[in-house]
Amino acid sequence: MAGPVRYEVADGIAVATITNPPVNALSVALRGALLEAARQAGADPAVKALVIAAEGRSWIAGADISEFGKPPMSPTLPDVLAAIEACPKPVVAAIHATALGGGLEVAITCTARVVAPAAKLGLPEVKLGILPGAGGTQRAPRLMGAAAALKLMTSGDPLDAKAAVAAGLADELAASDLLAAAKAHALKLAAGPLPKPVAQRDENLGPREAFEKEAAALAKRAATEPQIAACIASVRNAYELPVAEALAKERQFFRELLQDPRSKALRHVFFAEREVAKIPGLPEGTKPRKVERAAVLGAGTMGAGIAMCFANAGIPVRVIETDEAAMQRGLDRIRGTYEASVKRGSLTPEKRDARMALIEGAVGLEAAGEADVIVEAVFEEMSLKKQVFGTLDKVAKPGAIIASNTSYLDIDEMAAATSRPGDVLGMHFFSPANVMKLLEVVRAKQTAPDALVTATELGRRLGKVPVVVGVCFGFVGNRMLARRTAQVERLLLEGALPEQVDKALTDFGFRMGPCAMGDLAGLDIGWRIRKATGKRAPVADALVEAGRLGQKTAKGYYLYPEGARAGVPDPEVAALIERISAQEGVTRREIGREEILDRLLLPMVNEGARILEEGIAARPGDIDVVWLHGYNWPAWQGGPMHYADARGLKEIADRLAAFAQQTGDESLVPAPLLARLAAEGKGFASLKPA
Ligand code: 3HC
Ligand code: NAI
Repeated sequence: MAGPVRYEVADGIAVATITNPPVNALSVALRGALLEAARQAGADPAVKALVIAAEGRSWIAGADISEFGKPPMSPTLPDVLAAIEACPKPVVAAIHATALGGGLEVAITCTARVVAPAAKLGLPEVKLGILPGAGGTQRAPRLMGAAAALKLMTSGDPLDAKAAVAAGLADELAASDLLAAAKAHALKLAAGPLPKPVAQRDENLGPREAFEKEAAALAKRAATEPQIAACIASVRNAYELPVAEALAKERQFFRELLQDPRSKALRHVFFAEREVAKIPGLPEGTKPRKVERAAVLGAGTMGAGIAMCFANAGIPVRVIETDEAAMQRGLDRIRGTYEASVKRGSLTPEKRDARMALIEGAVGLEAAGEADVIVEAVFEEMSLKKQVFGTLDKVAKPGAIIASNTSYLDIDEMAAATSRPGDVLGMHFFSPANVMKLLEVVRAKQTAPDALVTATELGRRLGKVPVVVGVCFGFVGNRMLARRTAQVERLLLEGALPEQVDKALTDFGFRMGPCAMGDLAGLDIGWRIRKATGKRAPVADALVEAGRLGQKTAKGYYLYPEGARAGVPDPEVAALIERISAQEGVTRREIGREEILDRLLLPMVNEGARILEEGIAARPGDIDVVWLHGYNWPAWQGGPMHYADARGLKEIADRLAAFAQQTGDESLVPAPLLARLAAEGKGFASLKPA
């Protein structure tokens, strides 16, 4: 049989081997081939049993997500499963790697499952906003019990081979030769009467109370995540309905969830997160340089966190400061952070010691001489950065990557301070650097392709999501954030209060609003930058000048009574804002929730359009990934560019144009790219990579 399944018969056993790279997703071609293998094995008198095996890095990664949203093509996955279930001979899954989603649903429709030690079995559908839609909610409970199955599918995390066998999801762990073990298992089954199909093994469901307890524990998530509620309802049907009816209901839940905008957004995120790794315009076969040792300059807030990222990934790192005392302060800060993790129970003392052993403090830039990668995290001052880069040019070893963690400054200017601009780029971590997943990798004009690839590969080694961006003030994330920050100030002046501004964004799904975030970070940071650049923000400036710096002074936009981490609205702030509005000659008005939200989000979309137009980001999905991993944009809202596409760019452009007119703020006039796409009835997703 040609195509994605190789079908071979030997010694009375048919082996159907799946080869559908990269991950053996259940494309229509694979579904057709599997269905035929089941029928052929069933009809061939020379065949006693069928083994389904696979080649490649996955067993079967699940349904082909790229087919979702397109008209269904026959045979469907339930058709394939019906053929496997109807096979009059035992069918054994020989699972060597990940069996996920629809892949696991194939496996648990088989008569038995033999797994290799590297196998991982899971139902990750909830992460895509859906539920297992091909029998997973009915068959998994009839192998491992309903309570455990509910836990498996609502966590979305896979079980390893041993745990899968212990749970009853798999039958046998093959220490070596998986295929031989699967064949032997199949022949043993073929020698006796055919076991009941999994879908009829009601005796394994387990006590209803245990299931209901698990369901009750999920009540909070079920209230906001429709896929969790659907998992609960569908598994409950295993107790209440004949299995055929329960399967039909499951399919109905699946189809409904597939249409939900939240699932569409999560699927967009799935693909955007993978696409972001592809860097357009790189010469074929560009290889990363070797990175075995690192150096971080500056042991302040960011330097300390970045050094921890290296140590956590097992890379020895030198933290370099200007003097002994600053260096010691940095090391103490790092030790303190690890200590807190040990206290919380998220890190063992052994791991803390192993990580600390990889971090060495040093004074003077000469100490960076042995590093393969140097990340500069000194004060945000161009003259200092240029001086540091000039010195590094002399002390760094040939071929070392020289990166800056600058938030805003021009990397080209820093590169020009060296004789090796090809080795220079930005590695922009987000605070706290040891926690946040985003890494903006800033490609400067002369950055060499292999230097760029080294930085992105290194980012992944550090557990980050690297996004390649171009040079401009604030790169992608902070440049867009600045538009939102400006609107916060305007909204407060025009009539809103901090709690209204924040609520608009927390209702949208952000964990924190901008005012609460400002209080957490310290309002003096922005104030200092404004003073240095001659800008003003009347409300924020007045707060700082009244000694309200945020949480550290127990008052900022909010009041933080003794020890409180969540602020409470402060009538003094309301009075202060009203006074400033009057001073600025602004007549306050009631501003509705919808306007607040649009005023905060749409200017960011507009800036995103400019960023795309200038080629600072290659794809709209890259911008979405920046916001998801750097600023906690809610995944089910897909990121700012997907959000705009989902609402329709015409509506976005019209709203922005109206705001521009209403406020006289030119920056709100729809960017040319946005205006063009809106006029053509297209979305950002229609754009080809820059
Ligand atoms: N459908 C379509 N494409 C898929 C896919 C899927 N289920 N899973 C992975 N891919 C693609 C990726 O987009 C990527 O494509 P690209 O090379 O063009 O960018 C390629 O396969 C490789 O993917 P990864 O880079 O993620 O490869 P890894 O080896 O790092 O990871 C994996 C492999 C663990 C299988 C991971 O890809 C994964 O988690 N995949 C999704 C699994 C999943 O969610 N399955 C459930 C699908 S929904 C379902 O089955 C519904 C059913 O109940 C009816
Ligand atoms: P910080 O003030 O906490 O730390 C800077 C450290 O650099 C100080 O400890 C200082 O002693 C040291 N330093 C100064 N000159 C030095 C030199 N010549 N050699 C070695 N060390 C030197 O500053 P922070 O917040 O860590 O910022 C550092 C950089 O990271 C800045 O460019 C900033 O814009 C950027 N950044 C900051 C973020 C934040 O949230 N704080 C987020 C992302 C980037």
